[in-house]
Amino acid sequence: MLNIPYDETNVPDISTLTAPSYDNIDANTVAPVKRIGVLTSGGDAPGMNATIRAVVRAGINSGMEVYGVTRGFHGLWKGEISQIGMRDVSETLQRGGTFLMTARSKTFTTDVGVLRGAKMMEVYGLDALVVSGGDGSFKGARALARLGVPVIGIPGTIDNDIGCTDYTIGYDTSMNTAMEAIDKLRDTASSHERCSVIEVMGRSAGYIALNVGIATGAEVILIPEVPFDFDKDVLRVILDGRNKGKRHYIVIVAEGAGDATDIATRIEKQTGIESRPTILGHLQRGGSPTLRDRTTASLMGVHAIDCLLNKKYNRIIVEKEGKITDIDLEEGLAMQKTIPSIEIENAKRLS
Ligand code: F6P
Repeated sequence: MLNIPYDETNVPDISTLTAPSYDNIDANTVAPVKRIGVLTSGGDAPGMNATIRAVVRAGINSGMEVYGVTRGFHGLWKGEISQIGMRDVSETLQRGGTFLMTARSKTFTTDVGVLRGAKMMEVYGLDALVVSGGDGSFKGARALARLGVPVIGIPGTIDNDIGCTDYTIGYDTSMNTAMEAIDKLRDTASSHERCSVIEVMGRSAGYIALNVGIATGAEVILIPEVPFDFDKDVLRVILDGRNKGKRHYIVIVAEGAGDATDIATRIEKQTGIESRPTILGHLQRGGSPTLRDRTTASLMGVHAIDCLLNKKYNRIIVEKEGKITDIDLEEGLAMQKTIPSIEIENAKRLS
């Protein structure tokens, strides 16, 4: 780690620093990682406990000491850090949420906060930090990396919106939770011949809405990535459906694309079809992780430890074409993800 003295009055501008590349460093000259920290940050996601467990178990089995940092980066700069043993992660694989807890730390978006975090790594003698979270969490990890702290990111967010990986831990569980809820809403929409407008999570990404919409046979799917015309893309589709004999309707809206209550009110007013809004909200972030999330979290955790053992630092663990691999942190953070238009077209053809 760079030896930058901690001094709140003289903080370096971290955004101008670049994370050191370890690609060309002779692994034999770098001291092996002995003691690591692990934290979960940002919105929680089912499977985060499985990630922590994998990092702890694979880390200890490889001769490392593992320390848990509570409340994400907030706990890091505050020094809320304690050792985790093998038995501490028993019975956590199947549990939703994150037992380390999580937070969105405002302080950690400042140079002072990051410097304090890096200092705490030194105080606790931690050689590297494993961070499970989304894009924002990886930016926090990058800020630490730019100060010379070796980091590894593991994608954990229900939104599946991290550019460098095909899959993020929590996505499958949240979609299954939403699907089960929407199936139930369809039952009652059908009995009452109503339109059910369901808002799912996704402030800036429509992956949950699109796939859950396909899985539940939604008439209309609204996502933030695709601007829509209310008359043509919502009203027309519902009225055409009614003309073809449909008697109930499912409209899925990602939270970043519109407001379920507002949409339901407009549909009822303009078509005369009784409409009810439901906001699934944080329900989608809880629950026991599915097999997909448990296995991906476990294998990504093991891969993170492999990176550290091989002195491959500042990496994001990713899933690419079904394989768990890793990518440079800066490079990975610069990548964008877009929903292929064919997927949107296919969803429309199923309506
Ligand atoms: O985890 C990502 C996400 O689920 C977004 O889709 C959503 O907008 C956001 O978290 C809400 O999180 P919170 O209410 O915890 O701030």
